Amino acid sequence: MESSGPLLLSIETSCDDTAAAVVRGRELLSSVISSQFGHDRYGGIVPEVASRAHQQMIVPVVERALEEGGISRKELAGIVVTEGPGLAGSLMVGVSFAKAMALGLNVPLVGVNHIEGHIFSVFTEREGPDFPYLCLIVSGGHTQLMVIDEPMKYRLLGRTRDDAAGEAFDKIAKLLELGYPGGPEIDRLARSGDPSYHRFPRSRPGKYDFSFSGLKTSVLYFLNQMSAPERKSLYEKYLPDLCAAVQAAIVDALLAAVEDALEEYQVKDLAIVGGVSANSGLRGSSETIARRRGVHLHLPDLRFCTDNAAMIATAGSVKFLRGIRSPLTLSADPSLSL
Ligand code: KG4
Ligand code: ZN
Repeated sequence: MESSGPLLLSIETSCDDTAAAVVRGRELLSSVISSQFGHDRYGGIVPEVASRAHQQMIVPVVERALEEGGISRKELAGIVVTEGPGLAGSLMVGVSFAKAMALGLNVPLVGVNHIEGHIFSVFTEREGPDFPYLCLIVSGGHTQLMVIDEPMKYRLLGRTRDDAAGEAFDKIAKLLELGYPGGPEIDRLARSGDPSYHRFPRSRPGKYDFSFSGLKTSVLYFLNQMSAPERKSLYEKYLPDLCAAVQAAIVDALLAAVEDALEEYQVKDLAIVGGVSANSGLRGSSETIARRRGVHLHLPDLRFCTDNAAMIATAGSVKFLRGIRSPLTLSADPSLSL
C-alpha cells in the first residue's frame, strides 16, 4: 500500500446514509457511515426526512472521519463529493457542504458520480481487476452491465428496463412484511431455505437487459392465491424457502447475462458491485461461475458494497491525480448518468 499521495476527504449523501472518508493516495485512513433509522416505519426512504438527517449528521460525520484518519482539515489537498445520481435534497446537503469546505480551505473540489463510486469499490483497499473487465452494478437504484476498458471509460451493455435488483428485493420484502430495506433480510432467511420451493420467472427482455417488475407481480399472485391457512403456514414454516426461491430468480437473471457477456467479450476479470453485491447467494453463485470459466472475480469488501464514502474517495483520488477538478458552481444532479 502506498504511504504517499494526496490527502483527500470524501463526502457521500446521495441517499439515506451520511458518509465521509479520508484517503492518502490509495490508502484508506478512515470511513464513517451514519445510517438513518426511521425510514423503516414508512416502508421506504422519505426524501425530506433524509435530507434533514443529512443536515444534522454531516458535521459530526466529517469531524469523525478526520479524527479517525488522524489528520487535521488544514492538511487536506482536496474535497471529493458525490454529485449524483440520487435524491436531490440529500445530494444538495453534501455538495453544498463540500463546496463550502473547499472554498474555506482553498483546495480543489472533485465531483464523483455515485455509480462510478460503486465501480471503484473493488479498488478500495485492494488491487482491483485488470482492464478491460466486465462489471455488474447492482444497487437499490441501478442495475447495469458494463465493459470497463480503462479507468473511467465505460461501455454500457444493458440495464434494467424497470426495477433495479435491490429495488426488487426491497419491494418483495415489503410484500412479505420483512421491513426496509428488505434485501439483507431476504438474504438472511434464504440461507436456510430451499430455492426449489417454487420457480419464479427469470425474465430477459433483451440480450443484456433485465426486468424485475414481473417477478414482484408473480410473488404477489403467489401470495394472493393462497387461502388464509396456507398463508399462515407459509409465514410459520416456508418463509425461508420462499425467500430462497425469490433470491434464486434474481441471482439467476443477473448471472445469465453475465455469463453471456463473459462469453462474448472474452474478458479475464469480472467485478460485481453495489448494495446487492453483498448478497450471499449472488456472491456464492458468481464464485462458481468464475471458477468454471477461469475468470478472476472481484467483489467489494462487505463494508464497501452498500453506500459508503470510501468508494467515493477511491474514485475521487483517481480523478484528482488525473487533474480532474469541478468548479465551485457544481450542482447536485439527481439524474446524472455515467
Ligand atoms: O448501493 P446501495 O447501498 O444504494 C444504492 O445506491 O441504491 O444499495 C442498496 C440496496 C438495497 O436495495 C438493499 O436491499 C440491497 O442493496 N442490499 C441487498 C443486500 N444488502 C443490501 N440485497 C440483497 N442481499 C443483501 N445482502
Ligand atoms: Zn449506492
